[in-house]
Amino acid sequence: MKVLIHPTPEAGADCVAALIAARLRRRSAPVLGLATGGTMEAVYARLIAQHRAGRCSFAQTETFNLDEYVGLAPDHPCSYWHYMRAQLFDHVDIAPGRYHLPRGDAPDPEAEAARYEAAILAAGDIGLQLLGLGANGHIGFNEPTSSLSSLTRIKTLTRSTREANARFFDRPEDVPRLAITMGIGTILRAEEVVLLAYGAGKARAAAAMIEGPLSAACPASVLQMHRRATVVLDEAAAAELKLRDYYEDIHPEGRDRPI
Ligand code: GLP
Repeated sequence: MKVLIHPTPEAGADCVAALIAARLRRRSAPVLGLATGGTMEAVYARLIAQHRAGRCSFAQTETFNLDEYVGLAPDHPCSYWHYMRAQLFDHVDIAPGRYHLPRGDAPDPEAEAARYEAAILAAGDIGLQLLGLGANGHIGFNEPTSSLSSLTRIKTLTRSTREANARFFDRPEDVPRLAITMGIGTILRAEEVVLLAYGAGKARAAAAMIEGPLSAACPASVLQMHRRATVVLDEAAAAELKLRDYYEDIHPEGRDRPI
């Protein structure tokens, strides 16, 4: 696991946007796995700016988002479909048929989850998977005790996750209880994963993910098993790392460098 600790959240977002832009330039048809949440807004803003400056194009890209709330249609203002259009897709040159999220309003959510998993496989799996981190260690909506080899399926959200995401809804009771999420096994098949987390609220989960035992109690700890995982943190999110000096010695101020 490569751990890059940046002085500020802005520097972390710059780093992740640069990794994605490099991937967009490198491949003729990259498959990107995308994430939602407050953390990613700065990353998408940077990608839009790079696109407007002619430095990256999404024209050849296919994307799959991690998750969606069960019960929310794509035009619901709190759906992840809506988030992705507002934060990225409506501002770049991606074709409408080439971005994918699970349909939260599917009449049979379990069948929709199976369809989504099959679509990812049919696309040849994810090239670069972007991840955020839940304060309880979740990735996507794979809550603690998720099977570490799970595929796309329905998960019940924990109370703490619903509380953390209530800020995006008019009323806390409007936060759905269920979500369709890529599984941990789905995420692990990605060729490369990049996780971004910042702020003190993520420090405990970040330490458990990087230095804790590999455990379903902290689903993000499964990234310890991935051959090509990069974790990008700011100083606040890195505050509980025991080996912080070591990571900073290898990557001063989060700078990556060829091995
Ligand atoms: C949600 C999403 C996750 C995201 C997490 C962190 O629960 N399903 O994919 O990583 O929240 O969100 P935030 O960036 O808002 O802290």
